[in-house]
Amino acid sequence: MSKLFTPIKIKNLDLKNRIVMAPMCQFSADEKGFVQNWHFIHYSSRAIGGVGLILLEATAVDPNGRIMVGDLGIWDDQHIAGLKSIVDECKKYGAKIGIQLFHAGRKCTAPEKESVAPSPIAFSEKYAVPHELTKEEIKEIVVAFRLAAKRSLGAGFDTIEIHGAHGYLIHQFLSPLSNLRKDEYGGSAENRVRFLREILEAVREVWDKRKALLLRVSAEDYAEGGNTSEDTAYLINLVKEYEIDLVNVSSGAIVPAEINVYPGYQITFSEIIRDLTGLPTIAGGLITSPLMAEEILCNQRGDLIFIGRDLLRNPYWPLYAAKALDVEMEWPNQYRGARL
Ligand SMILES: Cc1cc2nc3c(=O)[nH]c(=O)nc-3n(C[C@H](O)[C@H](O)[C@H](O)COP(=O)(O)O)c2cc1C
Repeated sequence: MSKLFTPIKIKNLDLKNRIVMAPMCQFSADEKGFVQNWHFIHYSSRAIGGVGLILLEATAVDPNGRIMVGDLGIWDDQHIAGLKSIVDECKKYGAKIGIQLFHAGRKCTAPEKESVAPSPIAFSEKYAVPHELTKEEIKEIVVAFRLAAKRSLGAGFDTIEIHGAHGYLIHQFLSPLSNLRKDEYGGSAENRVRFLREILEAVREVWDKRKALLLRVSAEDYAEGGNTSEDTAYLINLVKEYEIDLVNVSSGAIVPAEINVYPGYQITFSEIIRDLTGLPTIAGGLITSPLMAEEILCNQRGDLIFIGRDLLRNPYWPLYAAKALDVEMEWPNQYRGARL
């Protein structure tokens, strides 16, 4: 039996297979962050294609937390209806669906807004120097995450992924490269993780206890003085009591460092996080082959596999993988003729 097609249950998140659609920004929302027909088609196609867990793209908890205009938003109750339409459609095909909640911090380029960060350091010379968040402003962003989690529940999402990776606001607090604060939010690992801790605590206040909560991390900062996978595992261990159920392991983007990218380049990071935290992980990065996914899962280097760009090339990747691995899976009736 293929491991990729072995169901897995995490809290009440009951997945028919271990294929996760990686969150991928579409920059296709309107200027107020509302869902468009594009999103509906994009996500429901992957549900029809047999993905076990769809992770919606980074969705901003605050208009000033968007990477740019075009990001989806969840800072207003009015966003719920559009998001719910995607959720309802994807569930019809047996997929489970989560939303990735985020704030871009110093990487926000939405016009007419001053970007914010733990410390006034620009990501690169192409970005503005951000405003250093006051403690009061930090609390406001924590509340924005809590309200976004409540709206996510209203939209019917099966899970939430807190985006702590890729150099966005949470990662900016976690990394010593971007967090030079002298107060209780900076310095030691215990202090740098405080913002994430407060967010997890706030989200857990409103998110159904039976539902899984995911955390995406950049395991490696790829720069001297930055976090390594071992450091990231240490940070996760400091907050996992807030019921993180699954860690989605990515890497980089806190500074414009060069990354040596090759098939499976992040799998060792997943292995380290999994070993040092005892939490299940989603592993991925340049995975295109079902056999490679199988190897990672069978050798316990991750518990699920995320697929990003290959699912953009082929929304029916799971159907193709099942055929390649000679697995019986349920095909949409309309497509059964292509099964043999
Ligand atoms: C178009 C595109 C948009 C992305 N947007 C997000 C995002 O919203 N959130 C996130 O955590 N990662 C994002 N990523 C990173 C992917 O989730 C994934 O980690 C990356 O593409 C590596 O996996 P792959 O080699 O299977 O594509 C994006 C990647 C792509 C290609």
